[in-house]
Amino acid sequence: MPDLISTSKLSKSFGGLVAVNRVDFQVPEGQVAGVIGPNGSGKTTLFNLLSGYFRPTAGSVRFLGKEVTDQPPYARVGMGMARTFQLVSVFNSLSVWENLVLSSFHRRQQGSRLGSFFFKPAREASTLADCRQALETVRLQDKAGVFTSELSYGDKRMLEIAIALSLQPKLLLLDEPLAGLSDHEIGEVLQLLHEVKDNFTLVIIEHKISKITDLVQRLSVMNEGSLICEGEPGAVLCDPNVRECYWGRETDAC
Ligand SMILES: Nc1ncnc2c1ncn2[C@@H]1O[C@H](COP(=O)(O)OP(=O)(O)OP(=O)(O)O)[C@@H](O)[C@H]1O
Ligand SMILES: [Mg+2]
Repeated sequence: MPDLISTSKLSKSFGGLVAVNRVDFQVPEGQVAGVIGPNGSGKTTLFNLLSGYFRPTAGSVRFLGKEVTDQPPYARVGMGMARTFQLVSVFNSLSVWENLVLSSFHRRQQGSRLGSFFFKPAREASTLADCRQALETVRLQDKAGVFTSELSYGDKRMLEIAIALSLQPKLLLLDEPLAGLSDHEIGEVLQLLHEVKDNFTLVIIEHKISKITDLVQRLSVMNEGSLICEGEPGAVLCDPNVRECYWGRETDAC
């Protein structure tokens, strides 16, 4: 499969700190890829560079065969890229359905080159249909009228994922979707991801490595801004450098 997204010598510095350092990262179309690494190793910064929230200090990003390094986030959404954030970011003063529909319309409108999205009834109908479908997929349809402030953190996370799914993405970037969730909620999100993963290319940042080894086909490990190891999850987790950076010393578990 050709790469859906790839980077070449991608770098981002904040003053003297090199948060992402000459990273060459590729995800073939259809793959489920995991990105792991200690706190502050550059994972979220990499996502911000992939999705256009940060301009790189150096290097480039290609998506769907096109150079997108200088493209803003909304243009990448318009091309089929969706993401969620490490901290849940939904509007507490709106209902679940309002949140979903407003976010979906807003992101699509920004990504639409025509700029007159609201005046296209056919597109409006298809957006609403995509929102309904996404709500059912994350099993929040019975809570459509509930204020988001009343949702559990796990349901808020599901709502964020539903907003991303409603955009019918070709590439979905999830930044620590299991963070802050109970074991039960983690099980529900993982089950959802197993159900939908064949519909798009998925890149997932996660700290709970053991939770995603069944889900991902490939793991990339970041440490101090650099990619230090990539490959099949079992092999990566047995890599001495990876074990050193996670557990501080080699163990004989592999
Ligand atoms: N906007 C910013 N301004 C300045 N420094 C930043 C900014 N964003 C990230 N950094 C720094 O860049 C480094 C990498 O941060 P990043 O958030 O990418 O790490 P991470 O691997 O996602 O960590 P975590 O696992 O804790 O989420 C850190 O030292 C962080 O403090
Ligand atoms: Mg992060």
